Amino acid sequence: MRVVLGVSAGIAAYKACELLRLFTESGHEVRVVPTRDALRFVGEPTWAALSGHPVTVDVWDGVHEVPHVRLGQQADLVVVAPATADVLAKAAHGLAGDLLTTTLLTARCPVVFAPAMHTEMWEHPATVANVATLRERGSIVIDPAVGRLTGVDTGPGRLPDPAEIFEICRTVMAGRPRDLEGRKVVVSAGGTREALDPVRFLGNRSSGLQGYALARTAVARGAEVTLVAANVSLPDPAGAKVVRVESALELREAVLTASADADAVVMAAAVADFRPAVRRESKIKKRDGEPEPIELVKNPDILAELGERRRAARQAAGVGSVPGPGASSGVGAPPYVIVGFAAETDDVLANGQAKLARKGCDLLVVNQVGEGLAFGTPDNAATVLVAGGSPVEVPRGPKEDLADTVWGLVAARLV
Ligand code: CTP
Repeated sequence: MRVVLGVSAGIAAYKACELLRLFTESGHEVRVVPTRDALRFVGEPTWAALSGHPVTVDVWDGVHEVPHVRLGQQADLVVVAPATADVLAKAAHGLAGDLLTTTLLTARCPVVFAPAMHTEMWEHPATVANVATLRERGSIVIDPAVGRLTGVDTGPGRLPDPAEIFEICRTVMAGRPRDLEGRKVVVSAGGTREALDPVRFLGNRSSGLQGYALARTAVARGAEVTLVAANVSLPDPAGAKVVRVESALELREAVLTASADADAVVMAAAVADFRPAVRRESKIKKRDGEPEPIELVKNPDILAELGERRRAARQAAGVGSVPGPGASSGVGAPPYVIVGFAAETDDVLANGQAKLARKGCDLLVVNQVGEGLAFGTPDNAATVLVAGGSPVEVPRGPKEDLADTVWGLVAARLV
């Protein structure tokens, strides 16, 4: 595909080198169009060498080739990373003073902006309005990441990880539908840790890869995403709001809070069913080599609680209490669609169907565990059980494929 990588004048311009490499290494043809001031951060020779193409900043170079029209017209994707407050303002108002802004005006392909700036600039009403204008026109503006900025200050404004920007661009180029536009979704990911003492915990092997793929694909499909991440060491998915938790009780709190006004909740996290009855304040010591028994108590079942709350709200509203094809947006109380995950070793479908009914969810993604599938691998294969519908088989493939199947089914139930 032909990609135009616009680079504006932010310190994060150096990270765009990595983004450029990700595009070229996966076979895309990239033309880099920096703004003049962006070259103060990363020079023209770097962009030319990394992209294998000449680099110019204004419309007066190579005029006979009409680059200000041609680059935009021929592009399959334009991505601006980092996008400064200045370039967002120019794009929102249709200014066309240099090659990047003229390219943005002539492009008819998807346009992705990855803003990076200080928090004050990002939150200024002028920037907020410019971002809203660009989004209304169909551009994708990725929310900046939260974290350390150029100086000692922290807040929203960091350029998301280049791999995350690349993933969004990849999904945009793959032609994902924007069927979650205007929807709020919550995804839980990772595995909970139940503390025994200040240094030890009971945990599980969940890597968070499937939950993160769900969050990323939901962002790409236009949703406002809250990702509740339990002990995951993966880069934040660009554009998602990440809430970090450790234990099942913390995860419950975060999921219930975020789902109060959400359209859909996907519980991809592996939640511990039990936790130690006491969390010792001091490290547990060996007692003459004798193991100390650990007493466990039950954790709340968050998925079942979401289903039960919704059932009660629907009953109170006098609408059907059973999830099914009638579970559409606006009926009862949020969340309107609830999705669970289940790892099964035996009688996969029968156990899955029973769990779907028991937990009151609309969709249940059933994984057969073992065979090198699921935990920690980039691939997954699953059956999605549908309340009131036929199961959908998802053959072995990238976790994004399973995520897309789930969101397609969720979007259909939100119509
Ligand atoms: N889940 C949850 N709260 C828990 C445990 C699990 O919300 N305390 C959610 C998981 O996020 C996942 C689904 O429930 O979506 C997985 O259920 P599972 O743990 O397999 O269900 P159980 O009822 O514990 O089934 P089993 O009897 O097979 O252990």
